[in-house]
Amino acid sequence: MAPTPTKDDRFTFGLWTVGWTARDPFGDATRPALDPVESVHRLAELGAAGVTFHDDDLIPFGSSDGEREKHISRFKDALAETGLTVPMMTTNLFTHPVFKDGGFTSNDRAVRRYALSKVARNIDLAAELGASTYVFWGGREGSEYDGAKDVQAALDRYREAIDTLAAYVKEQGYGIRFALEPKPNEPRGDILLPTVGHALAFIAELEHGDIVGVNPEVGHEQMAGLNFAAGIAQALWAGKLFHIDLNGQRGIKFDQDLVFGHGDLLNAFFLVDLLEHGAPGGGPAYDGPRHFDYKPSRTEDIAGVWDSAAACMRMYLLLKERAAAYRADPEVQAALEYSGVASLAEPTLADGESLADLRKDPASFEQFDADETGRRGFGFVRLNQLAVDHLLGAR
Ligand code: GCO
Ligand code: MN
Ligand code: MN
Repeated sequence: MAPTPTKDDRFTFGLWTVGWTARDPFGDATRPALDPVESVHRLAELGAAGVTFHDDDLIPFGSSDGEREKHISRFKDALAETGLTVPMMTTNLFTHPVFKDGGFTSNDRAVRRYALSKVARNIDLAAELGASTYVFWGGREGSEYDGAKDVQAALDRYREAIDTLAAYVKEQGYGIRFALEPKPNEPRGDILLPTVGHALAFIAELEHGDIVGVNPEVGHEQMAGLNFAAGIAQALWAGKLFHIDLNGQRGIKFDQDLVFGHGDLLNAFFLVDLLEHGAPGGGPAYDGPRHFDYKPSRTEDIAGVWDSAAACMRMYLLLKERAAAYRADPEVQAALEYSGVASLAEPTLADGESLADLRKDPASFEQFDADETGRRGFGFVRLNQLAVDHLLGAR
């Protein structure tokens, strides 16, 4: 019995997730479009705290100013009726053909200028709705052919766009931070800022990097064969985990966007453990919304859509419960101790000690018995089995 989700759990969903009509490159939609107002009500009933959206999810592309206002106003009514919030917003810079070669980094300058305007207009709406995070997923920022994109010029234009918009946010006094979402490929053959590491390195080159962090998605790192929990640990370590996209993925293949935990379950367990408790050595936990960016499988009808949204939250709560039991178990604590996991938090040099001091300490070298120390076992397998036991409810 997992606890029922409540607003205190801070679960949020993209309107485009439950609203996906399941059109894929090979087949037509299998479900009708959902009215965002209905999605707000259904998600509130299921226990979510908020919704997120791209401009075009709420206001169809090409709407007149009058239509735009109508869409916004009935959406605001639904928020007021349900108490749901909008903690994050983002821009669609990928559906319309004009973005086929990207938005901020299109080889066509007029497209780049249009992309900046489209985003700035939607940032104004984000501020109006009280969003504190603005996500940038550059799915079309990339290429299929190495000769088709000057990657260094593209990074210059990407930086120009993010810095220009961040400066705008600061000028306006909006309480908004940006979160860049990495993805290695799909829809482009190769996407710029393919992983968390690339995004962190890019942020370090920005003028306004202080308000820019990352929005990593489980499946996107796993599509690149990377360890998601480890990537999240590095983002936390850098103080840059501004938002997160939770879902499931099974290995290096197309972006599956499965229900959270329906991919690499053991990695999801350690992810939730990290988000909830911080690193074992005392590194920070995550305090933002638990945002699901998944797609209800194409085989599901509308009932299956809501079942899958409920499943995302249930998975998180189950893993949270199991992770808490894991952390509290004295045998786990002893195994962590034995494995040296806890002692890694201790600096290698003593307080005030220099490298020269260390070299003068015979215990560090002359008297150090590498063969003896090399015989040590770390007990990592035992520790991992304790985690699996907890995950399976066997302890
Ligand atoms: C994906 C992405 C997108 C983005 C979203 C926000 O599945 O490739 O996750 O869903 O998160 O479009 O801009
Ligand atoms: Mn995805
Ligand atoms: Mn995402």
